[in-house]
Amino acid sequence: MDRNLALETVRVTEAAAIASARTVGLGDEKLSDHAAVEAMRIAFNRIEMRAKVVIGEGERDEAPMLYIGEIVGTGSGPEIELALDPLEGTTICAHGLPNSISVAAIAERGGFLHAPDVYMKKIAVGPEARGVIDLKQTWTWNLEKIAKAKGVPVSNLTVVALNRPRHEEMIKEIRDLGARIRLIQDGDVSAAIATCEPETGIDVLMGTGGAPEGVIAAAALRCLDGDFQAQLIFRKDDEKDRARKMGITDFEKIYKMEELAKGDVMFAATGVTTGTFLEGVSFFKNGCTTHSVVMRSATGTIRRLTAKHRFDIKPAVTISEYRPKTGKVSK
Ligand code: FBP
Repeated sequence: MDRNLALETVRVTEAAAIASARTVGLGDEKLSDHAAVEAMRIAFNRIEMRAKVVIGEGERDEAPMLYIGEIVGTGSGPEIELALDPLEGTTICAHGLPNSISVAAIAERGGFLHAPDVYMKKIAVGPEARGVIDLKQTWTWNLEKIAKAKGVPVSNLTVVALNRPRHEEMIKEIRDLGARIRLIQDGDVSAAIATCEPETGIDVLMGTGGAPEGVIAAAALRCLDGDFQAQLIFRKDDEKDRARKMGITDFEKIYKMEELAKGDVMFAATGVTTGTFLEGVSFFKNGCTTHSVVMRSATGTIRRLTAKHRFDIKPAVTISEYRPKTGKVSK
């Protein structure tokens, strides 16, 4: 894959982050999401490529833009696949809370698991615990292996998990072992990434979140040399029907990181609200500053970019008229 695509992709996450950052704290999730999605689609369509959305905003009948199967880009150039989330943490952005990001990952055709929008059981760790996790085993078994790999007692580990009633038993199991827990309201992509950044103090992500977010997290951890395993969780028969249509036949399968995101993978993310992983967008008169990361699995290069955007010279992507309860996106 052309390595310059990674740098093109960061322009896309920047555009989505800037658009949604204008809606931070307005309390309107639909508005935040709409701004990010539309800005990301406009920016993608400026890139010379023929890219198929594999992980996107949903099925064609429920998502008007960046739906699964949509082709974006100028139509000429490399044929690639996209796994994206224009606004990861819609609720946190709408409420002005930390850790919302805009993300997009690219791979060659066939690179990403075509995952339906169901739940996914996940475990993510950083480079030191690479190769020791196994989702077939219990959470206790995994924590003991991770602690051994890191050379610390289990009580020295910090687990990050979504704060959900479905995690009650898992949380009890972790607490009984004496490990620390950091509960988050949303955003398990940045939580998975945090396991690879020692300064966050987070050792492992555990629990069940969205399957699309799982594929995106796997792409990021491929680039960061971390490790990730996952299993799709089906709650209803129609979810299995949707999975079958996407070519999934083994409903019990534990996916390794490389089966979720394989080959040469590139990943870009821009902070919307400040979090453990990236600073958010800060606006000034006639412009803003963004903080992004661009990574590539083939080389392991991780670039952190701070960009100053001057709207008086280059106006930000204009979002179409939208009339939710709060009015329209401010330009
Ligand atoms: P959105 O960005 O779509 O709002 O998703 C946020 C998120 O917290 C993900 O990070 C996570 O994987 C998923 O929702 C968890 O789903 P649920 O809220 O149903 O537990």
